[in-house]
Amino acid sequence: MLVDRLLEGGYQHLAVLDISSSAMVYAKNRIGVKAPDVEWFEADVTTFSPPHQFDVWHDRAVFHFLTNATDRNKYLRALRHTLRPGGHLIIATFALGGPQKCSGLDIVQYDSGSISKELGNGFSLVEECHETHMTPAHKEQMFTYFRFIKLN
Ligand SMILES: C[S@@+](CC[C@H](N)C(=O)[O-])C[C@H]1O[C@@H](n2cnc3c(N)ncnc32)[C@H](O)[C@@H]1O
Repeated sequence: MLVDRLLEGGYQHLAVLDISSSAMVYAKNRIGVKAPDVEWFEADVTTFSPPHQFDVWHDRAVFHFLTNATDRNKYLRALRHTLRPGGHLIIATFALGGPQKCSGLDIVQYDSGSISKELGNGFSLVEECHETHMTPAHKEQMFTYFRFIKLN
């Protein structure tokens, strides 16, 4: 519900991207009259071609589903095209010791060293925090949030 909270906080030029049309419809219906204030991209992030750049890219629990290097490289190419130089990347993944699967799918766990290596030297890590998320089924999931600045 991040986009809902950002709208309530008065943030503008918000966009949501998801590959799932039903997830998009669900979110649009939940937001209601303010939904047209958001740009909606029903797209595969690995092939996303942005119409313009953004100041912030926020990914919670998407990148960690990319278990092969080709898909991760495609994601990173889309990220580099979408985020302006000096922009902030906030990326949340399952932490080392956290779940090894989500919704029956394999994931990749990251720490600051491995996520920095994936992103390469165009991104500088400035902040990291840990969260134990409780799922609706009352299972604990250890997440780490990383914030990077895009250098160029
Ligand atoms: C675990 S959910 C996280 C959803 C949301 N970010 C959150 O934190 O609640 C993963 C989401 O990633 C989407 N997804 C998976 N692969 C994707 C891809 N290649 N491109 C875009 N979205 C994708 C799924 O449809 C799903 O909504």
